[in-house]
Amino acid sequence: MYGNVAIDGPAGAGKSTAARMVAERLGYIYIDTGAMYRALTWKVLNSGSRWDDEEIIRLAAVTKIEFSLDEQGGLQTICDGSDVSREIRERNVSANVSRIARIAGVRRRMVELQRRMAAQKPVVMDGRDIGSFVLPDAPHKFFLIASLEERTRRRCRQMEEQGIDFDRSQVSADIKARDEMDRSRTVAPLVQAADAKLIDTDCLTLHQVVALIIKEIRGE
Ligand code: C5P
Repeated sequence: MYGNVAIDGPAGAGKSTAARMVAERLGYIYIDTGAMYRALTWKVLNSGSRWDDEEIIRLAAVTKIEFSLDEQGGLQTICDGSDVSREIRERNVSANVSRIARIAGVRRRMVELQRRMAAQKPVVMDGRDIGSFVLPDAPHKFFLIASLEERTRRRCRQMEEQGIDFDRSQVSADIKARDEMDRSRTVAPLVQAADAKLIDTDCLTLHQVVALIIKEIRGE
């Protein structure tokens, strides 16, 4: 066993696909922490509750978020018993998630859930603050980056594959706005942990990124 793996980076840098593959290779559990903030955002948007920090914190405290695997082995995000995997990728959720993730009380709740998951079994966890805050003692930390152009290209391709309509310049503006909010918030902002290995994925394929991470973890 190699211990927990933390993978952080800005939106669209390829963290989740790489993290899922690394987890598979190591036989670890994969935890998509972005999906947890997204699930709560989806719930807030659909609950008709006031857009008020106290109300959102209250909602976070009573929201159950879990992960399960579908028949093809794909990760499902379950919010209060319902599969919300598709809904949480919608534009409305992406456009509002950083406003919810900046609330200290929301982060306290999510971090508590994330640490509880990591205490049960070894995990590969991806997000924005995993190496710097959620699992500061994780022995393996990575920070993935890519240019805005490349991240936009990847996100558009993903949406194309999923049959979702998009406007390229809007996708790019959304990614940029989300990064700015994630970097500038006061609680646990998006930041590279001092002991995280930086991987620029611009010129690398997904398989190269995964191979690099696995090699590093195995100390090869
Ligand atoms: O990773 P993903 O793009 O799905 O994350 C959605 C949003 O959730 C991020 O833009 C950020 O606002 C928030 N997030 C966070 N901390 C994490 C993971 C995600 O604040 N550990």
